[in-house]
Amino acid sequence: MVNKKGNDKSMKKVAILANGGDVAGFNAVIRGIVKTAENNGIECYGYIEGYKGLLENSYIKLDSATTASGILHKGGSVIGSSTNSNVFHYKVEENGQTVYKDLSDVCVENVKSAGFDCIFTLGGDGTQKSARDFSLKGLNVIGVPKTIDNDVACTDITFGYNTAVSVAMQALDRLHSTGETHHRIMVLEVMGRYAGWIALEASIAGGADVALIPEIPYDLNKVAEKIKSRINVGKRFSLVVVAEGAKPINGEITVKGLRDNGSGVDNTKLGGVGETVAKQLEELTGLESRNTTLGYMQRGGTPTAYDRVLSTKYGAKAMELALEGKFGVLAVLKNGKLDSVSLEDVVGNNKEIGAVSGNTENSNIRRVTMDDDLVKTARNIGISLGD
Ligand code: F6P
Repeated sequence: MVNKKGNDKSMKKVAILANGGDVAGFNAVIRGIVKTAENNGIECYGYIEGYKGLLENSYIKLDSATTASGILHKGGSVIGSSTNSNVFHYKVEENGQTVYKDLSDVCVENVKSAGFDCIFTLGGDGTQKSARDFSLKGLNVIGVPKTIDNDVACTDITFGYNTAVSVAMQALDRLHSTGETHHRIMVLEVMGRYAGWIALEASIAGGADVALIPEIPYDLNKVAEKIKSRINVGKRFSLVVVAEGAKPINGEITVKGLRDNGSGVDNTKLGGVGETVAKQLEELTGLESRNTTLGYMQRGGTPTAYDRVLSTKYGAKAMELALEGKFGVLAVLKNGKLDSVSLEDVVGNNKEIGAVSGNTENSNIRRVTMDDDLVKTARNIGISLGD
């Protein structure tokens, strides 16, 4: 495992792990890897529940006849996923006390004893940070970029994102007719902690009037102006999309609780900004307002055609990279073409080994930039971004 393998038939066994919050497309990536591996005479395995499986040495055989059969269209992950398993800083109970331990060497030994020639890490920025760290420890690792937020650095798009946008768009279509019927402001709160891609793209796809994203702190007076200008031309309803991580100018992000996703991760549970925005807009405009929070609907269920194809491409590409002996990289899409970038670049400035940086404000993630075509398009067609 420690020695790099070239495309010289020396590669025999590989393993996949799916880590972090689930997205539609996990299974399609798994299938893409398994099929490409089988076509090259390589056996494929899957660790159960991400890095937790790596630590517990828990894995199953994946093959296109049985365990990885009929999974292209299925949501979730046939090998599970874990949102709280930073094995470099792992929570254990010892003598009635909670302590955190670096158990990464146990994982390295597990991989070596199983004889896996490459580990594929399907996940977001935190997952790829651990992947980089395992790569420094000598494992052959190849990452595949996942997250509904579309915020993994160095790639144009992550798998799972398109499905989330599509679900949000369908919600907007439904909110449109009820909002129009009752002359209401319909607010839709979507996911997106520090990146507003879902809110922005769904707003364009679903014909929203306002999109509030984490990258642009909002002024609700500006939003109210937009809604009033619609009332003035006879449109007594408006659609407002709010990313869960959106915040007012000089204000704070809305936290509804805490989660236990491990160290180095933002352990706040976001949610609630949609309710606040709806209430304040009602006061500012005099129009009745309602909020709908879309939540986990965006992550579960069947992937779109786009995500099935993207996930399959990523899976096949990842296995291709393994056959070429290209490790320590992330399979990416750059200007529409499959490619790879080093995990070091994905991790960016986060050089500290073991410090998982999943979903934090300081993570090296890809945010919406003001010169992005989606921002320009939204502004051109008059979608208010709250600024
Ligand atoms: O990063 C993806 C994401 O869906 C975020 O948009 C959201 O804040 C978070 O995961 C929720 O994760 P959890 O599964 O811990 O509730």
